[in-house]
Parts: sequence; C-alpha cells; structure tokens
Amino acid sequence: MLSTNLSVGENGHLYFRGHDTVALAQTYGTPLYLMDEVCIRDNMRMYLRAFREHFGPNSSPLYASKACAFKAIYEIARDEGMGIDVVSSGEIYTAMQAAFPLERAYFHSNNKTDWDIAFAMDNGVGYFVVDNREELDAIARIATEKGIRQKILLRLTPGIDPHTYEAVATGKVDSKFGTAIETGQAREMVRYTLGLRAIDLRGFHCHVGSQVFGEDVYERTADIMLGFIKACRDEFGAALPELDLGGGYGVRYVERDGTVDIPAAIGRVAAHMKAACAKLAMEMPQIHMEPGRSIVADAGLTLYTVGTVKKITGYKNYVSIDGGMTDNPRYALYGSAYTVYLASRPQSPATLLCDVVGRCCESGDIIQPAVRLPEPVRGEILAVCTTGAYNYSMASNYNRLPRPAVVMLTEGGHRLVVRRESLEDLVRNDL
Ligand code: LLP
Repeated sequence: MLSTNLSVGENGHLYFRGHDTVALAQTYGTPLYLMDEVCIRDNMRMYLRAFREHFGPNSSPLYASKACAFKAIYEIARDEGMGIDVVSSGEIYTAMQAAFPLERAYFHSNNKTDWDIAFAMDNGVGYFVVDNREELDAIARIATEKGIRQKILLRLTPGIDPHTYEAVATGKVDSKFGTAIETGQAREMVRYTLGLRAIDLRGFHCHVGSQVFGEDVYERTADIMLGFIKACRDEFGAALPELDLGGGYGVRYVERDGTVDIPAAIGRVAAHMKAACAKLAMEMPQIHMEPGRSIVADAGLTLYTVGTVKKITGYKNYVSIDGGMTDNPRYALYGSAYTVYLASRPQSPATLLCDVVGRCCESGDIIQPAVRLPEPVRGEILAVCTTGAYNYSMASNYNRLPRPAVVMLTEGGHRLVVRRESLEDLVRNDL
C-alpha cells in the first residue's frame, strides 16, 4: 500500500492506523477527514530529533500550520515542543485556543494588516517574519506605540528555482514574497532595519517552494543566505544569529512519486552549512525550517460515499462522490496526483477506468482523473490518501456544501476533533 499506516483488514476493508475505514464512515458519516495522530507525532519527532542531532539545541523546526490548522493540531505541536509558522490572525487565534505558547510562533504573510500586527503583538507572538518595507514600517510604528521591541526575521528571496509547480515556487527573484537579494534591495532593507529602535533584527528567512524533491535545493539556498549574512556582518557589523530556510520537503502521493529521507536530507544540509561557515569564517547560525506538508500529508485520508456511477458508452466513466473540490481543491488547482482506493474492497479486481469527481456544479470538480478501481456501486466507501496537508485548510463552502468533520485516530481509539458543519452553520453569518 502507499504508506505504512494503510492496510487491508481480515474483512477485506481498507484500514487506516489499524481502524476499519468503512466502520469509521458509518460512525461519523461522509465526507470525512481522518487524521492519524501517531503519524503526525512521529513526523514532528523525526524533525525535532534531526534538528537536535545536526543543528544543535538552539535550532528548531516550526510546523507550517497553513498545511492543516485546527485546535487539536496546535495541541499536538504544543505537546511535542514544536514551534509554529502562522500566517494570519485566524491561525494565531486558533493556536491561542489550544494554549500554544506563542513565543514559539513566527508570523508570516506578505501583507499583514495593522490590525493583524497589533493582534499578534498583544498576544505575544514571538517573531514577525517581515516581507517588505511597508510592513516593516507598520510593525516598527505599532511596536513603538506599544512600547515594545519586536523580534523579526526579514524574508528574502534568494533567487532559487526549486523545480516544483509554479503556484508554489516562491524563491525566485520575481516572487510576490520577500525582498530580493539580487537586486540589492535586501541589503538596503537590512541597513534600514538596523536603524529602527523598536525592531530587533534576529536574522533572515527564505522559502523556495513546496513539494520539493530537488537534491541540493536547500544546500544552494543556504549558500546564498550564508553569503548574505556574512556580507551584512562585514558591511554593518551586525550579528544576525538566526536563519530560517522555510519549508517544502516533498511527500509521496502516488506509487510513482519519490520519497525524501528527511533526517538524511537535514544531515546533508547541516554538514554542507558547517563546511560553508568554516570557509566564510563565520559562526553557524541557529537554523529553523518550516515543514508543513511533510508533517501532516500522509497522516490524512478522506472518506467519501459513492453516488452516481455514470458510464458514457464509448467515451468515459465517472464515479461521483459526496464531496469534491470543496474539501480537496488540489487537483482542480494544481493537477495534483492522488491515490484512490475503494475502501469497501480495495483488493477486488480494478476493472473500471474512471474519473473520480465531486458534486459541485462545475466540470473542473475532479478529485482524480483516470483512476482504476473495482467497479463501485452507490453507497460504497471510497478513500483518497495523503490528504492531510492543504485539504481541510483549503476547504470551502462552494455550492453551500458544509465542510466535513475531522476525526483523529490513535493506536487504540478515535475522537472527533472538528465537528461537521451543519446547515445552520452555513447561514450563521447571513443577516
Ligand atoms: N514556509 C512558508 C513561508 C511557506 O509559504 C510554506 C508553504 C511553508 C513554509 C510550508 O511548506 P510545505 O512544507 O508545506 O511544503 N496549497 C499548496 C501549497 C502551498 C504552500 C504554501 N506555502 C498545495 O496544496 O500544494
């Protein structure tokens, strides 16, 4: 099977973290997001261990919570000792509801409003990751008003193409994110920042993209960033002890995808950076990375109930499910690949070639085209794997479809962590 938390039970059903998915669908209804808590904790611990081992005690991984954000996830991150990357007041608020210690939070986004800035400061967010000059001025002004000195990292674009899909490549010079090194604007920004009394410039941030498999992407990025830190030290005499290399390690959605051995990859980046620092005669900075997808993607699985099975004679076949682009927009947006199993009998011969499609009123509402499945009948349960990242967090109410519930699985049990939206929820804010 695609990942180690998937198996087939004696009754022939698909099991996820040892639980019968068909039984879970009966208990909680569909569409349903399942999240494997064991897997989330294992992935977080893998990062924490690798960081301790290769970067030392002052470095830390931050969970990029945009990948999947609800209270229970922040509680897990809190318990495991992870930091977090947050991108909105909504994520900050959710983390607060989980009693997450916000001094371990790094506030991103390319356009924080004055309201967001004040909200984050009032609630003790540890770091702001500053995207641009206007934002920097606003943060300095609001920090001055509040009488605080705010720790920040400056987000820079190192000019690296990570060779992933365009919508998630962010490290190139012309990106909407960050301030470019190549154009000289980053240097200018450092000079300016060092003159701001309300700002404590701790270092730099960069993020080159997501779903990255390229062998030496982080090494090349680190080289550019270290060179820049050195240049700032030489020119401004500034000690800038922290460097955040962003997120991005890729995950396996389908059998043909590769896998990244993350501890080994982190070990290589660390060794490369130590050598580079020695050459530049500089101290190794404290390192952060911000994995999102590689923490939660394979911890997720979505269950649907099959509805219409439409065969257009001589053309194609459609299997319609009771969710769609509202709970998983990733094929519609990026053409993303997914593995689909017929959860009721994953081992029956896969005789039907079909598009698995949602129930929204548009043709682009496709979960996955050209899938081979055992021919399903109305009422059977379908599972889409590796949906833990950027599914729940990107869900919408298009066509006034209520968002699914989220159930957390442990070795021995399961619990509801996000209630299914009701019809009343859909009109809650309508006046
Ligand atoms: N740090 C920053 C500044 C980011 O912008 C992101 C992702 C991450 C960390 C986490 O990257 P990850 O480890 O998850 O690759 N909706 C898209 C992905 C957008 C990624 C946005 N930024 C998708 O569904 O593929």
